[in-house]
Amino acid sequence: LRGSVRVPGDKSISHRALVLAAQAVGRSRITGLLESTDVLATAAALQAMGARIERDDGAWVVDGVGPAGFHAPDAPLDFGNSGTGARLVMGLVAGAGIKARFTGDASLSARPMKRVIAPLSRMGAQITATPDDTLPLDIVGADAPLPIQYTPEVASAQVKSAILLAGLEAAGETRVIEKRPTRDHTERLLALFGAEIAQESTAEGVVITLRGAARLTATDIHVSGDPSSAAFAMVAALIVPNSHITLENVMLNPHRDGLLRVLTDMGADIDTTDRRTQSGEEVADITIKHAPLKGVSVPAEAAPALIDEYPALAVAAAFAEGETHLYGLDELRVKESDRLAAIAAGLRANGAAVEESADSLHIQGGNVGGGGVVETHHDHRIAMAFLTLGLAADAPVSVDDTAMIATSFPQFFEQMSDLGARFDVG
Ligand code: S3P
Repeated sequence: LRGSVRVPGDKSISHRALVLAAQAVGRSRITGLLESTDVLATAAALQAMGARIERDDGAWVVDGVGPAGFHAPDAPLDFGNSGTGARLVMGLVAGAGIKARFTGDASLSARPMKRVIAPLSRMGAQITATPDDTLPLDIVGADAPLPIQYTPEVASAQVKSAILLAGLEAAGETRVIEKRPTRDHTERLLALFGAEIAQESTAEGVVITLRGAARLTATDIHVSGDPSSAAFAMVAALIVPNSHITLENVMLNPHRDGLLRVLTDMGADIDTTDRRTQSGEEVADITIKHAPLKGVSVPAEAAPALIDEYPALAVAAAFAEGETHLYGLDELRVKESDRLAAIAAGLRANGAAVEESADSLHIQGGNVGGGGVVETHHDHRIAMAFLTLGLAADAPVSVDDTAMIATSFPQFFEQMSDLGARFDVG
């Protein structure tokens, strides 16, 4: 693999930039937005509640509704495959005093929502879900949401963000305490939109405090490149002999750079150049060369900063010398698929030795025969990870579906092909 590609916009920041711009007073211009189906579903939901969102010359122009400006949508809000979109907008609706129904595809409709239903109900929203606390669900937002102090049970940026978004309309201070810190894009963007938000490290964890009854002011945002999409080319370059590639515009938020750190521990040769700041996030160009990797042990504490990168990391581990142990993976069971099981099955189907427990994976590295057909369970990251594995396996690897790749990385095939990868679409 050779050459240089510009990584598309970050999915987490793209959702948040749209949501905050839709809530702000005035016109925001967003450049570098990820135009994937997940993000477009969030844009459609915000439009259905009154925000004007239009694509203009490659940028997205959002006219926000201002405080208390959203109206109830006429039809259910369909978030497709997107847990982030659904959970963020649940927070928004819970604080907005309007009523909305939330729906999604089969994968999203199986994902746990109690983690957001519980805090948003405490803030005064009335939420009716299925008996399993899944979608479809109805929210009647609170007219006067209550500020709360809340310590989520799971480390989840989506839960934290839902509470903060509802807290924007609450009279008083909303506080989220994170025992294990998660990605802080919502906090960084809220500050750019003029909200009063503070973070403090304490013995209990990171305490995030937001002053409510806030008036957000429109601002222009440049979305930096998604490290979770860059992960596949990074791993591909490491495992395909003679590779030397550059990935431009990769965001290096300290809650998102776990894969870079683990791959470096495994012996990867990764250079970051031209570090710069874009809309409150650090960005750099990353150059990666093929390198022999060795197995590592990754503790549970590391999980939030590489939560979406385990499928790619497992592929790197399969080509490393020795064993890799990945702990604290319970949340992988409730992603777009049961990723822990999907990773283990995909590796086995291609001749790699792997053991799994309820929340860990143990991968024996070595030569990977390949030749398997991987069940993706309609999960974009499982599809991309195993196509990456196929680039270095002895025999080509097939995946049963690629449609879901468009939820996060519509340019995947084009960019990987530009770097020299070959795919057969049958
Ligand atoms: C995301 C947070 C993570 C991550 C997801 C995007 C976000 O989920 O897996 O892909 O944008 O907040 P959790 O916060 O549920 O861990």
